[in-house]
Formats: sequence, structure tokens, C-alpha cells
Amino acid sequence: QDITERTAEIVSRNAQLEGPLLPILHDVHHAFGCVPDAAIQPIADGLNLSRAEVHGVVSFYHDFRKSPAGRHTLKLCRAEACQSVGGDRLAEDVMQALGINWHETTPDGRITLEPVYCLGLCSCAPAAMMDDTLHGRLDAASVKDIVAEASR
Ligand code: FES
Repeated sequence: QDITERTAEIVSRNAQLEGPLLPILHDVHHAFGCVPDAAIQPIADGLNLSRAEVHGVVSFYHDFRKSPAGRHTLKLCRAEACQSVGGDRLAEDVMQALGINWHETTPDGRITLEPVYCLGLCSCAPAAMMDDTLHGRLDAASVKDIVAEASR
């Protein structure tokens, strides 16, 4: 069964709800691990919306990803304490090293990069979380090690 058919089923299951778009997007996300491009048209058709309207909602909520997440998720803290000790610079270095932007996944499917707003590690800023493990006092080199470690 392809994405279009499965999505159309999800749409018809939820269509009678009041405000069906978000529940539909959640179900689609659950079914495919993301909201794939191919799901946009059947959702738009089913709810009488334009593709742009559906796209707008998908992009507004960063919890909906447009492609499946990588095997590992690196969350870099973007809150104040981390910013004040070079968090921005660190984020730029990491994005450059991985060749991706926020919410994106490396082409080999290894790492997804997400921002996070305070990990409670402010005294050890800049901080990050790789999968479920917290890391503090980071610099570009230590993030590289963490990424290499996770990818093994
Ligand atoms: Fe980054 Fe608190 S601000 S861990």
C-alpha cells in the first residue's frame, strides 16, 4: 500500500473530527516516521485545503519532520546560558561539520540535529544531548567525538 492510499485512509478516519488536520498529521507522522511530500496532496484533497495550507501547518510545527529521523539525534542547547559561552558559534561549527541545518538529517541517515532550550546543564554550558546522554562544556572537537562515538 503506498503513501497516498495509506494517507487517504487516515484522512477518512479523522475527517469527521472538528479540526481534523493536526490529528491527521500526527497519525501520518506515526505511520511513516515523518510527513512525506507524497502525503500532502491526499490530505489537501480530503480536507479541501490547498497544498500550501497543509505545508504551512507542517512547517509551523517542528515536531513534524519531512523526512525520517536519523539513527541518532543530537540536540544542541540554544538557550541563554549556552549562548553566552559560544553556543551559537558551536552550533555553526557543528552544522558545517555535519553539512546540515536545524531539523535536518545527514545524508547517510546517521544524525539528526535539533535545537533544544535548556537541558538543565547551564553550569556546564555549552551543553548538548546525544540520544539520551547529556554532555557539557562542549567545543567543536568534543562534539565531533560524540558524533563519532554515536555513529560507531
Ligand atoms: Fe543550555 Fe541551560 S541554557 S543547558
